[in-house]
Amino acid sequence: MTLLRTAVAAAAILLAGCQSAETNTTTNSSDGGQEAQIAPILDTPEAKDSATYARPLEARVCHVALDLGVDFEAKRIGGTATLDIDRKPDAREIVLDDKGLEIESITDGSNQPLDYKVGAADEKLGSPLSVALRPDTKRLIIKYKSAKDAGALQWLTPEQTAGKKKPYLFSQGQAIENRSWIPTQDSPGIRQSWEATIRVPAGLTAVMSAPKSAEPITQGGESIFSYKMPHSVAPYMIAIGVGDLAFKPLGKRTGVWTEPVMLDRAAAELADTEKMVEAAEKLYGPYRWGRYDLLVLPPAFPYGGMENPTLTFLTPTFIAGDKSLNGLVAHELAHSWSGNLVTNANWSDSWLNEGVTSYFENRIMEEIYGPKRAQQEAALSFDEMTKALAEEKNGPNTQLHLAAKEGVPDGGAGGIVYDKGATFLRTVEKIVGREKWDAYLRSYFDRHAFQPMTSDRFLADMRANLIKGDKSLEAKLQLDDWIYKPGLPSNVIRPDPAAFATVDKAVAAFTSGGPPPADFAGWTTAEKIRFLNKLPRKMSTARLAELNQRLRLNEAGNNEVLFCWLDLAIRNRFDPAVPALERFLTTQGRRKFVKPLIETLAKDPQWGRPIAVRVYRVARGSYHPITQRDLDKLNLMS
Ligand code: BES
Ligand code: ZN
Repeated sequence: MTLLRTAVAAAAILLAGCQSAETNTTTNSSDGGQEAQIAPILDTPEAKDSATYARPLEARVCHVALDLGVDFEAKRIGGTATLDIDRKPDAREIVLDDKGLEIESITDGSNQPLDYKVGAADEKLGSPLSVALRPDTKRLIIKYKSAKDAGALQWLTPEQTAGKKKPYLFSQGQAIENRSWIPTQDSPGIRQSWEATIRVPAGLTAVMSAPKSAEPITQGGESIFSYKMPHSVAPYMIAIGVGDLAFKPLGKRTGVWTEPVMLDRAAAELADTEKMVEAAEKLYGPYRWGRYDLLVLPPAFPYGGMENPTLTFLTPTFIAGDKSLNGLVAHELAHSWSGNLVTNANWSDSWLNEGVTSYFENRIMEEIYGPKRAQQEAALSFDEMTKALAEEKNGPNTQLHLAAKEGVPDGGAGGIVYDKGATFLRTVEKIVGREKWDAYLRSYFDRHAFQPMTSDRFLADMRANLIKGDKSLEAKLQLDDWIYKPGLPSNVIRPDPAAFATVDKAVAAFTSGGPPPADFAGWTTAEKIRFLNKLPRKMSTARLAELNQRLRLNEAGNNEVLFCWLDLAIRNRFDPAVPALERFLTTQGRRKFVKPLIETLAKDPQWGRPIAVRVYRVARGSYHPITQRDLDKLNLMS
């Protein structure tokens, strides 16, 4: 069977080139061991990435050195990328990913020009950039500029920042956007070490997802920053932020970067970060990246968080004043193991990043805030999964391992990849027992540190190191059903209904005509979310008005609660929520919030669509290119 075959298949394909080619067989000591200088490329068919043009088994990039200037006027980053490559001796070319890059020249290590060709552009994947290799070519030097309207980059005017005085730039690489500003092989299975020298206008600070390698220098109106990532990482993890940034330490190896006027509020919300790192290490082994800092971005940042190594990127919308949304931090931190250490080889297996991380996140939350909060958050995640299964009618998109679709990796529905993924691991934990399961998961991270992973390999690893031939355990786990079949296997462990007993009673009372819950203000955030999400989607104006008045929902300071309320309100054409809605949609650009709300509005031609048109005209310019790409499909601007 394929799993066995995968287990014995030699994973490391080491070609000739790059400096030292240590293999990874000894990478299992708790101190990080000896890491492979050149991370292996998996050669099995399920590990192939259909979203890259690269053919890494012939020639692959192993190190990227960037020397770039940031031009806020032209909205371009430009300079050189020096790529160290590893190739078969008879390889005639190396293929990189390119999405709109402006290439000026490509030379080899001795500055001899190399022939290259940019192939036809696919709307989603961009173009192959094929560079001819001479027999001795080991290095490419590419002079270039980032794409015009690069999908990875968002340029903010001073007005779009908190301080209002200086411009801002940030990048977002996942899943396949980095090819619009870095010419390399943009596939998570092709790990690369990297370094960067970045020039920005004096007065701005550039931070990146790697340790600082030199003190910044300011001269001639420019500041120069240097970073170096010694580990090999998936190229989507190269990230940059440039702006008026200040830093505040949170603990001995943790700290926060953000605009000066945001610094105190951000630091207060993040006060438990060092404790989270300690809890994570206690669970699943050493944190191997040195520092763990966070960059709190302007509200236009399109995601809740992004796990850029050594420097998590965060939306400011998680700041609630009471740390009630800091599960986001636990999540991005957990990716330092699941995602950054052990990485999905391609986007069909993104549950290995997101599902394992969602499980790990919840374990960190339990360590720090106790079982009640953890159980409630796990129960909300179970609800999300149930909703996603229903929306997808238990169809093929509800498998954890998604079929490799042609084109862009969309990662599947969040409720599946994240929540079914986490539910799977909770089920395994329950069946195996926490102690044994934790020991296994910890050893999994050690065994596969700095390597790509697939579903097949994960299952083979579980069978070799956890199940070890125990037939009855194998039967109980139903592993293949969880990963390769749609819907929900029969052994699923459900959340304890006690977690939300009070809330569910309040829902029943309200829906049978009673008053809104009197003690709502004192509830946990998870309880408020559960309450709002369990209410019927169709409600009368009078009942909504009662809710709004008693629970002060239009004024909710917690953005997750506000989002749940606005979703309910617009489905019922509740006019009094419109000012709050317009404020919410025009003052932040988190995709998870703006996309569903605007889509719901656009589907209601009489009441909602005019609001969507009005809002989008104002807000589009402040949304991220990826969010614009999604929402432009609704034709609100025409
Ligand atoms: N890695 C993801 C963000 C991502 C996923 C970016 C896919 C691009 C493509 C990040 O770790 C994440 O999951 N963020 C969530 C928050 C989390 C608490 C569920 C988000 O942004 O909402
Ligand atoms: Zn994640």
